[in-house]
Amino acid sequence: MKHFLSIAALTPDELLALLDLATQLKQEWRSGGNKPILQGKSLALVFQKPSLRTRVSFEMGMVHLGGYGLYLSPNEIKMGGRESVPDVARVLSGYVDGVMARVFEHEHILQLAEFGSVPIINGLSDYSHPAQALTDIFTILESKGHLQGLKIAYIGDGNNVARSLLFGAMKVGMHMTIATPSGYNLTDEDITLAQQYSRHGAQVERTENPQQAVEDADVIYTDVWTSMGQEAETAKRLEVFPPYQINKKLVDQAKPDCIVMHCLPAHRGEEITDEVADGPHSVLFPQAHNRLHAQKAILAELLADK
Ligand code: CP
Ligand code: NVA
Repeated sequence: MKHFLSIAALTPDELLALLDLATQLKQEWRSGGNKPILQGKSLALVFQKPSLRTRVSFEMGMVHLGGYGLYLSPNEIKMGGRESVPDVARVLSGYVDGVMARVFEHEHILQLAEFGSVPIINGLSDYSHPAQALTDIFTILESKGHLQGLKIAYIGDGNNVARSLLFGAMKVGMHMTIATPSGYNLTDEDITLAQQYSRHGAQVERTENPQQAVEDADVIYTDVWTSMGQEAETAKRLEVFPPYQINKKLVDQAKPDCIVMHCLPAHRGEEITDEVADGPHSVLFPQAHNRLHAQKAILAELLADK
């Protein structure tokens, strides 16, 4: 593995190996701390958008492994504005051992990998959020003890988070049904790719009916209705999406032991109610905390001396 750009680019074996490594690193950290396998290594954290989880978990992940994380806010580099993405990639490659970037255009992640000479990690683009998906699958594995044959119901916007989760689910043999309003679903191309990635008979379905989607679901997943960069569409989306809210009535239609997930930040009262977010099925905060452990596996895999 040279970069961590997308779940699509990982072989199923690479994905499973990252999950194993995350389990080991979490265990090690809980029993007194991680070994300093990244001593002397540095990671630039380039952000074009705000962040709580991605910034803190990658930065602290570097610290726990003995390395250094350098946060660069949207106003500092102005990547693509003050300086071209290829030039940013060329310059940073001479200073740090790796770059994690959160960008608007996915193309910018690909350009960082093309023009830089150090490993690049995708910390969210408009197209995908693979570090989140890896964490989500890790969290499902922890909660359920296995992955193959489980069913995820994704309810809400067919966005970056939905796409990465779908690709990851297929690669580890989980079924996924995506319920979105008309016009907000994942594309036919996404579904064709998902079917190509499917292992162990994993099936993908699209529907406009959230009640149908949660039937027999082991996992209910949602994300905000308006992603970063789509703020101009907020009013329109607030009219379209309310039937897709995760509330107790919807959760009660899934399996009795289903877990509820959200990548966060949540707009409580919109895509998820307080009752569900803070209720017995919710794994929202263990999920958020697992960003630290799952991403340490990515950092170890890309940056540690072999
Ligand atoms: N889920 C997630 O990526 O959160 P942040 O936007 O806070 O990083
Ligand atoms: N879909 C959201 C995820 C935030 C972590 C966004 O792109 O804003």
